[in-house]
Amino acid sequence: MKNHTKIVVIGSGAVGSTFAYTVLLKGLANELVIIDKNRDKAEGDALDLNHGLLLAQPMKIYAGDYSDCKDADIIVITAGAAQKPGETRLDLLQRNVSIYHQILSEVTKFNQDAIFLIATNPVDILTYISIKLTNIPKERIIGSGTLLDSARFRYLISEKIKIDPRSIHGMIIGEHGDTELAAWSLLNIAGINQVKADTTSRCYLSPEDKEEIYQQTKNAAYQIIEKKGSTYYAIALSLARICEAILHDQKSILPVSTYLENYKGIRDVCLGIPSIVGKNGVEEILDLPLTSEEEEKLLHSAQQLGNFIRQIQL
Ligand code: LAC
Repeated sequence: MKNHTKIVVIGSGAVGSTFAYTVLLKGLANELVIIDKNRDKAEGDALDLNHGLLLAQPMKIYAGDYSDCKDADIIVITAGAAQKPGETRLDLLQRNVSIYHQILSEVTKFNQDAIFLIATNPVDILTYISIKLTNIPKERIIGSGTLLDSARFRYLISEKIKIDPRSIHGMIIGEHGDTELAAWSLLNIAGINQVKADTTSRCYLSPEDKEEIYQQTKNAAYQIIEKKGSTYYAIALSLARICEAILHDQKSILPVSTYLENYKGIRDVCLGIPSIVGKNGVEEILDLPLTSEEEEKLLHSAQQLGNFIRQIQL
């Protein structure tokens, strides 16, 4: 790990400010810059976080402007319109593409060497757009992807079979959205492949269980947004987890949104696929042994995003 690490978060709304708080709690960096078009909000968050410093971890935290992106190791972009009740992530597309145009043109004046972590929805498309709008190598532009969805998935399974979610190895892949899919064929608990679990085993999930878990995973954000207006805790933890893997060069396998040149025939799109994440960003995308049904669903996910990408006025 470098002796001095710097994270910039652009957007100090619910996700951005919760992420900033998470960075402080985990002591993820030596320096944290908060940038928001509402300068008062950024300054208020910086003040509030600094007042907790001695109760958390030592860190230099301040509200900044784009020039403070200089020398940042990771630039996390959470800015943009968020889903309202009844809106899909894709409904946010054109508004947030315009916002990204502005942000990226400013940020890249000061830093083209950082790793860019995209959180704004629709995250797969905004990850893709960020790659197309900048000259930054695709390995260093990462979206939060389906890490949050996979965490939800593993939590829901853990609730069903009463086993620690950390011992349940399963992934949601594809779009961070309505076409995401559960890679059930890869789900394993202590090496016991769920597909092979005996019906009497504690790890067994019936087809009905699996469908219920998948639907709850896929619709989790809508449910939370209906209840409290937006999601921010688990996505902030997901972003922090990715930052941890980068800053500590952990070479963790995380289903981040990454650019696919030719993945099982899928081309020129970003999707959540388990990838090795370390100090250089995405070091390798894992070639998953999916079933033909899972591959078809992944292709559908890619086609859905591709249809929207083609509609964008860049
Ligand atoms: C969610 C948002 C981050 O799934 O898309 O909670």
